[in-house]
Amino acid sequence: MNEKRILEKRTIPVLFTEQEIRERVEAMAGEIAAKISGDFLIVSLLRGSFMFTADLVREFYAIGVHPQIDFMTLSSYGEGTTSSGSVVVGRDLTDEVKGRQVLIVDDILETGRTLNFALDLLKERGAADIKIAMLLEKPGKLQVDVKADFIGFSIPDKFVVGYGLDYANHYRELPFIGYLDVH
Ligand code: IMP
Ligand code: MG
Repeated sequence: MNEKRILEKRTIPVLFTEQEIRERVEAMAGEIAAKISGDFLIVSLLRGSFMFTADLVREFYAIGVHPQIDFMTLSSYGEGTTSSGSVVVGRDLTDEVKGRQVLIVDDILETGRTLNFALDLLKERGAADIKIAMLLEKPGKLQVDVKADFIGFSIPDKFVVGYGLDYANHYRELPFIGYLDVH
C-alpha cells in the first residue's frame, strides 16, 4: 500500500475540534500575557508549531500583546512515529537572543528531548529569560527533566496529527487535532 492510498483511505478520529482549539488558544494567550510583560521574542519551533504560533499571536494582538517572532526548525523524528533520540537544527533563528526575554512555542512535549535541546541552545546564546508554551503534552513520557510553563491540552498516548502536527509531513493542514491508529 503506498502513502497516497493510505492518505485517501484513512479516517482521522478527532481529539480536539477547531472550536475547542480556538477557545483554548485564546485562553492560553491570556495566561501567558499575565506572566510575561514587556518586550519578548517568540521562538517558534518548526515545523509542527506553525499553526499554533499563527493563532496564538493573533490572540496576543487581540489583547494588546505585541511580541517579535522568529522560527527555528528542529527535528527529532524521521519519517516514522518513534523518536530517533537526537535533535538537529535545520533552519536556525535570524534574531539575536542574547539578553532577551524569550517564549518558546512548540507543538508537543513527549520525551522532552526537543525542548531540552532548544532550552540549552537558547541559554547558551544568552537569553535572559525563557518561558515555554506547548500546545500538547503526552503525560508520563518524559525522559529528561524539563517542564513547560503553559500547556494547551494533555492528551492520551496516541500519535496525533493535524493543526501543524504531521505523520511523514502529511496532515499538517487539518484544522483539528486527530490521531492515527499506528500504535
Ligand atoms: P520529544 O522530543 O520526544 O518531546 O518530541 C517532540 C517532537 O516530536 C514534537 O515537536 C513533534 O515534532 C514530535 N512528536 C511527538 N509526538 C508526536 C505525535 O503524536 N504526533 C506528531 N508529532 C509528534
Ligand atoms: Mg516539533
